[in-house]
Amino acid sequence: MGLLHITAAILALAGASFSAPATPSVKYCDPESDVCYSSSTVGVAAISFRLAIPNVTASPFDILLQIVAPKTAQWAGIAFGGHMINNTIAMAWANGNTSMVSSRWASVHEIPEPYEGAEYTILKGSVTNETHWTLTTLCKGCSSWVHDGGSKTVLDPNSPSINLAWAASPYPVGDPADNYTMLAIHSEHGTFSLDLAGAKSDNFESYVNTLLA
Ligand code: HEM
Ligand SMILES: *[C@@H]1O[C@H](CO)[C@@H](O)[C@H](O)[C@H]1NC(C)=O
Ligand SMILES: *[C@@H]1O[C@H](CO)[C@@H](O)[C@H](O)[C@H]1NC(C)=O
Ligand SMILES: *[C@@H]1O[C@H](CO)[C@@H](O)[C@H](O)[C@H]1NC(C)=O
Ligand SMILES: *[C@@H]1O[C@H](CO)[C@@H](O)[C@H](O)[C@H]1NC(C)=O
Ligand SMILES: *[C@@H]1O[C@H](CO)[C@@H](O)[C@H](O)[C@H]1NC(C)=O
Repeated sequence: MGLLHITAAILALAGASFSAPATPSVKYCDPESDVCYSSSTVGVAAISFRLAIPNVTASPFDILLQIVAPKTAQWAGIAFGGHMINNTIAMAWANGNTSMVSSRWASVHEIPEPYEGAEYTILKGSVTNETHWTLTTLCKGCSSWVHDGGSKTVLDPNSPSINLAWAASPYPVGDPADNYTMLAIHSEHGTFSLDLAGAKSDNFESYVNTLLA
């Protein structure tokens, strides 16, 4: 990458503190795995967030999550409740030639804390190349959460439009091999909608088995 390209890449993330626009949710089938996701692409750097779920009518359900980000995004995150505070957050970043996932929760607008309520398995297709990193992970516990002993929030698998939030940062994480490393605030954040009903598949179990193998 030439200096001009690097400068442009940093500006693309660091220069944009506004809520960047998101493309509409589309169906995306990964040519590597044949897994089909509902996918939305957000932000100036262009980061894709993808979900696939089993053919269920109600929570709880497991979620296949794929994030594809340019390396200028030193971390990217998704908040399943559509805002930063008091809901399940998955953060991810490049780690060598693979990627890392970190389960988090924020009760204030500060660095999100470790969250025990969701469990992630990193799957095949979590690779980092010259330009991009990709996380492919199975989440158990991302389809519902309980805030502060209060009522349970659930994702509606029948909805053609759930509201999710995302954020990304141009600042490197402390130790990419450590889930709970220190990290710096986002330069971009926003919300997007995803067709969760369209993310359903009868093949979910075989998707997971293929990606585990
Ligand atoms: C070091 C980590 C983080 C810090 C210090 C931080 C801090 C903040 C602060 C101060 C705000 C309010 C100011 C503003 O609107 O820009 C904010 C808003 C926001 N943040 Fe974070 N954040 C962090 C991580 C995350 C992560 C991982 C997500 C994942 C999606 C996220 C999503 C959002 C969103 C969507 C907003 C808009 C307002 C809201 O939904 O509450 N943040 N953050
Ligand atoms: C990824 O890095 C590891 C450790 O450095 C290495 O053993 C492995 O062969 C690499 N894989 C690929 C696909 O480059
Ligand atoms: C930490 O990362 C590992 C994979 O390296 C993953 O299996 C584990 O669930 C992660 N833990 C949390 C709490 O994020
Ligand atoms: C988030 O949860 C904390 C702890 O229960 C609570 O004090 C705070 O008011 C909540 N914030 C929002 C925005 O719901
Ligand atoms: C790197 O990964 C991204 C995301 O999957 C892909 O679009 C790009 O073609 C890959 N680059 C190379 C050189 O393989
Ligand atoms: C889900 O199951 C229902 C009932 O068996 C079926 O009608 C529908 O086609 C299935 N949807 C998908 C996406 O597999």
